[in-house]
Amino acid sequence: MANQGVNDPINTGRRRFLTATTAVVGAVGAGFVAVPFIKSWNPSARAKLAGAPVTADITGLAEGQRLILEWRGQPIWIVKRSKAILDALPTLDGHLRDPKSENKDQQPEYVFKASPELRSLKPDISVLVGLCTHLGCSPEMKAEIRPEPFDPEWKGGYFCPCHKSRFDMAGRVFQGVPAPINLLVPPHHYENDNTIVIGVDPAKGA
Ligand code: FES
Repeated sequence: MANQGVNDPINTGRRRFLTATTAVVGAVGAGFVAVPFIKSWNPSARAKLAGAPVTADITGLAEGQRLILEWRGQPIWIVKRSKAILDALPTLDGHLRDPKSENKDQQPEYVFKASPELRSLKPDISVLVGLCTHLGCSPEMKAEIRPEPFDPEWKGGYFCPCHKSRFDMAGRVFQGVPAPINLLVPPHHYENDNTIVIGVDPAKGA
């Protein structure tokens, strides 16, 4: 499969995600919640398909939670990572196909420069295109550090059940799975501390 660029929508044929919602789902620890609290200023459906930017307020995003947006017909995940998750990421490098994000098509250059391992502009906030780089299914978030049937030493991440691809909480793909590259990071920037704009690069020098 040809590598996917951050601006190229992945094959939509096998996507499994809700296209009409903006919601926060998933939580680490007990009390799994699905809390639709996000204030959004999303453009019309037609404008979104044309690639208009999408803005999200992440003020209420708690550790372990995921906000799901839609941009260019793709699910965009915004996840707040805990310190435990961040501490676990370096321990996974030896199990990953591209731990240092050397494939430059997987993320914008400014994200690579910020951190090729965390793959994010801020350490705790991960922004990813929520589509598996194998055939475009939307992986499940398994954010808890605990043994899973597919990995007894699981440190949190994303699992694609259709062909068992695995990614860590930075979207880095494991070795020995069908997905060829890391999950994509979309163009984005912070308008202020708690406002993320998906689809627009940071201003030069920002
Ligand atoms: S689409 Fe994810 S493993 Fe096949």
